[in-house]
Amino acid sequence: MIDASGQRAPTGELVLSLQGVSKHFGAVSALTDINLDVHAGEVVALVGDNGAGKSTLVKILAGVHQPSAGTITFAGKPVTLSDPATALDLGIATVFQDLALCENLDVVANIFLGRELSPLKLDETAMEVRAWTLLNELAARIPSVRIPIASLSGGQRQTVAIARSLLLEPKLIMLDEPTAALGVAQTAEVLNLIERVRDKGLGVLMISHNMEDVRAVADRIVVLRLGRNNGIFYPDTSNQELVSAITGATENAVSRRAGRRQAQQEQREGGQL
Ligand SMILES: Nc1ncnc2c1ncn2[C@@H]1O[C@H](COP(=O)(O)OP(=O)(O)OP(=O)(O)O)[C@@H](O)[C@H]1O
Ligand SMILES: [Mg+2]
Repeated sequence: MIDASGQRAPTGELVLSLQGVSKHFGAVSALTDINLDVHAGEVVALVGDNGAGKSTLVKILAGVHQPSAGTITFAGKPVTLSDPATALDLGIATVFQDLALCENLDVVANIFLGRELSPLKLDETAMEVRAWTLLNELAARIPSVRIPIASLSGGQRQTVAIARSLLLEPKLIMLDEPTAALGVAQTAEVLNLIERVRDKGLGVLMISHNMEDVRAVADRIVVLRLGRNNGIFYPDTSNQELVSAITGATENAVSRRAGRRQAQQEQREGGQL
């Protein structure tokens, strides 16, 4: 579907919608009047400079922080995410930047950490089968599910953390800097994996500082600046334009973008393109 600005409009159902969400920590306004939508089968990148409020937003959606104001609608209903268990139960999964994996435990144990099947008598075979199924769905390259996390590469660890977040079949998955510590090949693999998660029909909210990764995988790019919305962009946006919105080199990035589109349109109509 093409919207008025010539971009592909999201076609999946609206999974998450934030309206006027604010968060104060004492006198500090971390977020002010944030609006944000994520649809099923869509990757939304959340970008912004250090301190822009990205992690605060993710923590609100993970049930770690409570918003000071605003409404969160999830799967069509207004929700209160009073703690992490509530967010998880509703279908909001989070892969935090530190991944929270146990180095000395194997892949299966990490995927099921705290959620072991029949906990009184651990059903190791069922857990192993389920772990392989999850990893295969992601076409993940893990040599064995019985090796400790300590012996996996950064990309493989990220894969295990993502597989783990899919265990409870969420509708939305949030990834905080999933490629930050990875090399080129591992980054490509994790980006492929994010596409596979999207193609399963999940909504994906990804925080990243890497504009190349963002452009490679995001369907929409939401910029935060000083805790406020500062424009929604598409992967065809130039680096310069994104950086301006992030740093505030142009205060009104939205109107600047509209201006550029209009100029392009006029050029096309003039037969120059
Ligand atoms: N628990 C807290 N108590 C007080 N202030 C906080 C708290 N958490 C975040 N802040 C403040 O809120 C603002 C936004 O921080 P946040 O961590 O959300 O930014 P960020 O966009 O994730 O930055 P980075 O890219 O550096 O991770 C900052 O000014 C920060 O100091
Ligand atoms: Mg952060």
